[in-house]
Amino acid sequence: MPIFPWDTLADARVVAEAHPDGIVDLSIGTPVDPVAPLIREALADASAAPGYPTTAGTAELRRSIVAALGRRHGVTGVTEAAVLPVIGTKELIAWLPTLLGLGAKDLVVVPELAYPTYEVGARLAGTQVARADSLTQLGPQSPALVYLNSPSNPTGRVLGVDHLRKVVGWARERGVLVVSDECYLGLGWDVQPLSVLHPAVCGEDHTGLLAVHSLSKTSSLAGYRAGFAAGDPSVIAELLAVRRHAGMMVPTPVQAAMVAALGDDAHQQEQRDRYARRRNALLPAIRSAGFAVDHSEAGLYLWATRGESCRDSVAWLAERGILVAPGEVYGAGGARHVRIALTATDERIAAAVARLRASGHEQPEAGLPRCSTQS
Ligand SMILES: Cc1ncc(COP(=O)(O)O)c(C=O)c1O
Repeated sequence: MPIFPWDTLADARVVAEAHPDGIVDLSIGTPVDPVAPLIREALADASAAPGYPTTAGTAELRRSIVAALGRRHGVTGVTEAAVLPVIGTKELIAWLPTLLGLGAKDLVVVPELAYPTYEVGARLAGTQVARADSLTQLGPQSPALVYLNSPSNPTGRVLGVDHLRKVVGWARERGVLVVSDECYLGLGWDVQPLSVLHPAVCGEDHTGLLAVHSLSKTSSLAGYRAGFAAGDPSVIAELLAVRRHAGMMVPTPVQAAMVAALGDDAHQQEQRDRYARRRNALLPAIRSAGFAVDHSEAGLYLWATRGESCRDSVAWLAERGILVAPGEVYGAGGARHVRIALTATDERIAAAVARLRASGHEQPEAGLPRCSTQS
């Protein structure tokens, strides 16, 4: 296994924590806002649950997933047999190649800059792994599984409908499974991201397609461990069969909480508005401190660079009490970027903004050229 990415930040964390006004931790995308009362009540009301939960999810949960996909994302043609609740999507991603029986002869393709768990899952199953953002990079190879992640963690890049259609067509010709991690689908800012299951992408034929949705970010439910997969009914059936044997069941109270969360769009909109406000505050401030921000048109992160090693940027920000993630943990192409999460309280975001703005008035360090958004 690779080193756990956040363990490499220990030194920078010590520096950031020493700031007189305290650390602003923007290194991990962990939600900090309150869980909506209607979700907490649903969890509590379902807490008398002595029996085992169903792996497939309650009928009500499966209905809620289908309805939410249609209402929120315009996805049609999904049946209740084509959805499956999971114990947070990190769990599914880490075990997916194993659950599908992939092994040494199989190839799993992950984005060049990617959420590390795609590769972890491939390694757990002992498959080959390739990093590619375009089909031409793959040449004649026929992978078993290709991951898409739009909007992307870490870059916030959104794949357009033409790109998605091309990947789906290419995969269908070769019998490749496309797994689209849509964790940030509800968080489009400058553009509207599309699900791989949207009719404009796949024409309501979900063969060979799996969309993975998390409730962690859009409903601030990371602590509940709640997500689901939807798509090709035969792939869902295969996953269900194995997961029943493996005991991969979402607890009954969490299933009830998911029903409440999926049935209510108001709390999601409220959460989205909070992130939009934080992004609007942080984006100009990070630019004023000499960073250029790339992509970041959607999702929960700003993908920023000062044109130097990401570890130098991490250290520079840590001296100002701001902890961010080094881009290199997402892939070699991230070596000169940092990932800045929007997941901190309004008060902590305001503290980061003030420090970044103040840094714009600092004297340049001796012998070092000053970075600017133009550089
Ligand atoms: C791209 C992506 N996929 C999946 C996950 C996992 O989310 P969870 O396990 O909370 O559902 C994350 C979490 O940060 C993520 O960034």
